[in-house]
Amino acid sequence: MSETITSILEEHRSFEPPLGHSGSIASLDAYQALCAEFTEDSDASWGRLANKHLNWNKPFTEVLNRQHAPFFRWFEDGKLNLSENCLDRHIANGLGERNAIIWESEAGLVRHISYNALLADVCRAANAMSALGIEAGDRVIIYMPMIPEAAIAMLACSRIGAIHSVVFGAFSAQALRDRIEDTAARLIITADGGARRGAIHALKPNVDEALSKGCASIEHVLIVNHAGNNVDMRAGRDLDWHDALKAQPDQRPPLSVDSEHPLFILYTSGSTGKPKGILHSTAGYLLWARLTMLWTFDFRAESDVFWCTADVGWITGHTYSVYGPLACGGTTVMYEGVPTYPDPGRLWKLCADHAVTIFYTAPTAIRALIKAGDTWPEQHDLSKLRVLGTVGEPINPEAWMWYRDVIGQGRCPIVDTWWQTETGGHMITPLPFATATKPGSATLPLPGIDAAVVDEYGNEIKKGSGDGGLLVLRQPWPSMLRGIWGDDQRYIDTYWHKFNGSYYFAGDGARCDEDGYFWIMGRVDDVLNVSGHRLGTMEIESALVSHAGVAEAAVVGRPHDIKGEAICAFVTMKKTIDDSMATALAAELRAHVSKEIGAIAKPDDIRFADNLPKTRSGKIMRRLLRDIAAGRDIVSDTSTLEDQSVVQQLQQRR
Ligand code: WT7
Repeated sequence: MSETITSILEEHRSFEPPLGHSGSIASLDAYQALCAEFTEDSDASWGRLANKHLNWNKPFTEVLNRQHAPFFRWFEDGKLNLSENCLDRHIANGLGERNAIIWESEAGLVRHISYNALLADVCRAANAMSALGIEAGDRVIIYMPMIPEAAIAMLACSRIGAIHSVVFGAFSAQALRDRIEDTAARLIITADGGARRGAIHALKPNVDEALSKGCASIEHVLIVNHAGNNVDMRAGRDLDWHDALKAQPDQRPPLSVDSEHPLFILYTSGSTGKPKGILHSTAGYLLWARLTMLWTFDFRAESDVFWCTADVGWITGHTYSVYGPLACGGTTVMYEGVPTYPDPGRLWKLCADHAVTIFYTAPTAIRALIKAGDTWPEQHDLSKLRVLGTVGEPINPEAWMWYRDVIGQGRCPIVDTWWQTETGGHMITPLPFATATKPGSATLPLPGIDAAVVDEYGNEIKKGSGDGGLLVLRQPWPSMLRGIWGDDQRYIDTYWHKFNGSYYFAGDGARCDEDGYFWIMGRVDDVLNVSGHRLGTMEIESALVSHAGVAEAAVVGRPHDIKGEAICAFVTMKKTIDDSMATALAAELRAHVSKEIGAIAKPDDIRFADNLPKTRSGKIMRRLLRDIAAGRDIVSDTSTLEDQSVVQQLQQRR
């Protein structure tokens, strides 16, 4: 642990929250009062909030069932439907003509979709899925670009109780196949392609390739004709989305499901093995999606325009591009393209054009846009912005300051939100009108969230001691993962084993300062965070080793000023190679990883070696590799190294 948690950031700036506001939690006192309510009786507090914020078809009588811990069950005997809570409910309140989604394509095409129109399409899609035999509990893979149909497909699944699993559109055919096989999905919803940097990124060929081997569970593929790309249609299996929807009525009663009915599976990387299918269920997830919109962003559905730039392929896109804003009856912005197309002013132009009031993005995007220069944001009217958020990785104080000064013009509070795919929604974050912020700190846990920094034995580390430790959550919360799809034991081993079932272990290192503020210090396991994307080193190593010429591979991260971390692979080939072959071979290996996982997993550096540095017992010395990758002096102890000459060779070959 100590190797990862070394640098202690010294940061003393602090910014008071704007005053005179009547936000959802409008003062530190209000925050503390709410926290105290939870300390007093957390079940009663959660129960009160669940009754207040969700529409129930059958009310629950028990808030939390801990009997099968760590398989917790929330609001167990209640019944509801998620799409009804996100759509019908607001329409019944007279909001049918409000914009639910404002979508813009990379080319600049804009669509406004009202709640009425969204519900009609969701019903048609739900009917179309039923017509294909999809029933409650069946899994549906969604492999789409950032287009409204992705949200429609997700909501349509929830309307009939089907479980969606969104696969990020830039993942490879192989990654898609792994997810199809693990979920045993019956249906794939995809598109002919999506826009990326002015070109069309095709999706259907990947689906065809995935289905060419195994994947026997898939019966149908629905294809949204979006990009005007030619698509091979396999008779009997492939259907056009628009044709299928046109044939269906625009009404469909929502299926009332149990609170714990599975809502979605989303794959994320861990330190070992294949990505794990994180399972989320209905009521608790929806409650937290809605509450965190109100608390963290002070979201006001009647006047705010909310834009979270994340793709629906990630948890942030699930909770804050789709479910959170819609659960509140608000307006969410979706953008299909890349942030720097046609120029680095694109995000700021979108904010101005759609009068965005709350903007939520990743530090990596902020860092890239800082590099592009202040003239880009200066060209656009950002005066409507009132809250700015970041997520996905630690934000360096200088990027935080730029975000505050240049984008927020000193006026907008910054909310640095710490959470994970597994937590469903925010856990540690400032409240924009209650919490004083410090650049680089996610500040305090939300009410109801019992976060702590502990040592290896689970003892809390004294606040303000300056020592780092492990971040844990000591009480269950409604939007927590319900397990790993098909692998209960892995769920227990990964998250609960370390502290004997009593704490949830997040996998992050952190430190708590004298004010109780959390400073997240990054992963303590073999998980990399590349541009806010989570990647397992072992996954990349397996991809490399699956290349016929590779004997062994070790992957580590190294600091990168825009991506946060870059991927560095140390590779030994089965046959000896000379330097003249290295460049071509490295390119081949990078392409191979891209094919196995996706372009986001491509190593930035590949270094060939005759041997990897190992201890006498055969363990790869990753610490040493991290030093070499970063170009640092070797700080780790190399006395146990079997072959000392390896280090020199690795340092030379870069
Ligand atoms: C990991 C979770 C949560 C949605 C996006 C990523 C890192 C996340 C922060 C933050 C420092 C952060 C952690 C965490 N992380 N937010 N505000 N400050 N680190 O979700 O792919 O499940 O990754 O991202 O290391 O464990 P994810």
